[in-house]
Formats: sequence, structure tokens, C-alpha cells
Amino acid sequence: MSKRVQAGVIGCGNISPAYFHAAAKLKDMTITACADLNMEAARARADENGIRACTVEELLHDSNIELVINLTTPQSHAEVNLAILEADKHAYTEKPFAVTREDGRRVLEKAEEKGLRTGSAPDTFLGGGHQTCRKMIEDGWIGRPVAGTAFMCCHGHESWHPNPGFYYLRGGGPMFDMGPYYLTALINLLGPVKRVAALCWKAYGERLATSEKANGQVLPVEVNTHVAGTLAFHSGAIVTIITSFDVWQHSGHPIEIHGTEGSLRVPDPNGFGGPVSLFRPGMTTWADVPLSHGYTDNFRSVGAADLARAVRTGRPHRCSGSLAYHVLDVMHAFDESSASGRHVEVESICDQPAPLPMGLRDGELD
Ligand SMILES: NC(=O)c1ccc[n+]([C@@H]2O[C@H](COP(=O)([O-])OP(=O)(O)OC[C@H]3O[C@@H](n4cnc5c(N)ncnc54)[C@H](O)[C@@H]3O)[C@@H](O)[C@H]2O)c1
Repeated sequence: MSKRVQAGVIGCGNISPAYFHAAAKLKDMTITACADLNMEAARARADENGIRACTVEELLHDSNIELVINLTTPQSHAEVNLAILEADKHAYTEKPFAVTREDGRRVLEKAEEKGLRTGSAPDTFLGGGHQTCRKMIEDGWIGRPVAGTAFMCCHGHESWHPNPGFYYLRGGGPMFDMGPYYLTALINLLGPVKRVAALCWKAYGERLATSEKANGQVLPVEVNTHVAGTLAFHSGAIVTIITSFDVWQHSGHPIEIHGTEGSLRVPDPNGFGGPVSLFRPGMTTWADVPLSHGYTDNFRSVGAADLARAVRTGRPHRCSGSLAYHVLDVMHAFDESSASGRHVEVESICDQPAPLPMGLRDGELD
């Protein structure tokens, strides 16, 4: 067994170049093959990266591949993950972990039954910006976190994405598309969520695509596109969050955490870098904080490499299935709270992922 884990990719669409680009710099994993329902897409990525294009079946039967990265659209995540695990390979998927809780649990159970690892993006919380915030909180710079805000507001993805329809179908929407970044970042900083209270709706019954490839397509909207709510964490902290595809412009900072001794501005969780800034009593304005950790460029796939490293060392992996399932559980609680007019208790729980140690060079993991 070679030291580096050999990985394959299923799903060679829009996000896949970012994975290939970053994975080339990671020391624990090498991507050797890629597959897609659309062979042309697989061949294009394979040619760009000097690897082998194959069918999904061929990739799943390749005995040299230990880990498969699932970059298909959300509606296929669970089905593809189950096929990967059934083929006795570790499965790492793009977010969301699954569309329904039932599918999410099926994936967790299959991984457990097979003694394999499963994990999910986002891995942006492993970036220098968010790891710095984690260290700042653990080192006591803002005292005990008590409150926070999180805003992800935009007007959807149909103006730029070549295939935007999935963003408005079940498994899409602002919460299922962007919520995983924000919720995972908050859980990294504050631990698991206990309860959700929310109001949700959609401003438009259909959307008009204007991106070059999809221009003129009318997209049916199955999901709520404005999701506003409040999260109560097991730690006691209360965070207000809005995810929306119905907002043209806004000025809210992506994430702020307020503690008994100060406030922390947390960078956009859809990226790896900063800026991070701090306010403490006696200061007149926010002060920028130098980042304590590396991985500040677009390192999508570092979560899969962390899983690969964990396979070799036996330690837990950070972008874990239980973290991703907890995020899925919390996301469903928003619609449920809104529909029922009640607070929803979150049944699942997960461990806060271990922080990355300081001093790692880009490409290295502990
Ligand atoms: N596009 C982005 O900027 C972006 C950013 C971060 C995360 N993501 C996430 O990445 C995932 C993929 O997004 P995308 O933008 O690359 O979508 P995409 O539609 O551009 O690409 C998806 C690819 O998966 C293939 N596919 C779908 N079902 C399949 C199956 N069952 N077996 C094999 N191949 C299959 C499709 O043929 C397509 O080539 C989504 O979960 C999305 O939320 C996308």
C-alpha cells in the first residue's frame, strides 16, 4: 500500500477544476482517475490533469483507488456515496452530505457497516482565516462566546452557473447550498447546535437563467429562497443567521461572534483566507489580526486529504460524516420550524473537529 492514498473523482463539472488544482499540492492524496455520466466532461478533466478518464463503474472497480471524491450535484450525493462505500472505498462528498436525513443516515450506517470513512465538504473551515478564529476563541480573546450573526445573502446563481437548475430543487436553495459553509464554520467555532427557530419563504415561484450556457431557461423553484432563523448552541451561544437568494445587495459581515470580553469578525466561510478582526473593550475600532495558520488559498480538497491522512494514521478526520450529518439535521430544522411555528430541537450531535496545529506548511497535514 503506497503512503499516498490514491483517489478518484466522480463528477467533473464546474467545481472539479478547483479540486484538481488544490489536490496537486497536497501530500497525502493523489487523484489518478475521474468519471462522470457525461464522458466528455470526464475526458476534458482527465486531459487537463494528465490522469485517466473512465466510467463510474470502472472507477469503482479500480482496486488501486482507496478514496472517491463525489462532486456530483446534491440530488446524487447519497446514491453515489452508497455506491462508493459498497465498492469498499472511502467516500468524501461535496456538500450537502445528502438531501434527506434518511439518506444521510443510510450513508453513515453503510460506512459504519463497512468499516470505512465518510466525510463531506465544506473544508473551508480548515483555512487560515477560520483556524485563526478558532485559536482566538480558544485562547480567550473574546471571553465566553454568547452571541453572533451570520449573513449569506445574494440573488442566486442563475446569472453565472452553466447548469443552475439544481440550486432551486430539493437539496438546493440558499440554506442547503450555502448553509453548510456557515453552519460548519459556526460548529467549528462554537460546537454543536441544540435548537433552531426560523421563518422561511420564497419570493419567486420561478427564476430566469441569464448565464451564457443556460440563458433563457425558466427554473422552477421547489425550495424556500429566504431562510431566516436563530440557532441556540449547546454552549449557550445564540446566533442569528440569514441565508437568502432573494437579496440584491447587503452590508452584513459574513460572520461575527460576540463574547463576554470582546467581538470577533470571522471571514467569509466560502473561502480559506481572512481577514480576521478583533474588538475589545477600550478599543475605538476593530483591529486586524494576522493569521496564525496557513491554507489561505483556495484549497478545496484539503478535507479529502485530511481524511486520507486519517486513514493512514488512524486518527479521526475533521470533515467527518457526523459533522456533515449534524449540519444536514440543522438545515432541515429551519424549514420545519418555519412550517410548524415552533422551535425545533436538533436530535443529532457531533464533536467539534480538532483544530489544525500551527506551523503546518501548505500541502502538509498532521
Ligand atoms: N460550482 C461551484 O462553484 C460550487 C462551489 C462549491 C461547491 N459546489 C458543489 O459541488 C457539487 C457539484 O457542483 P457543480 O457546480 O460542479 O455542478 P455541475 O452540474 O457543474 O457538475 C456536476 C457533474 O456531476 C455529474 N453527475 C451528476 N450526477 C452524476 C452521477 N450520478 N454519476 C456521475 N456523474 C454525475 C454531471 O454530469 C456533471 O458533470 C454540488 O454539490 C455543489 O453544491 C459547487
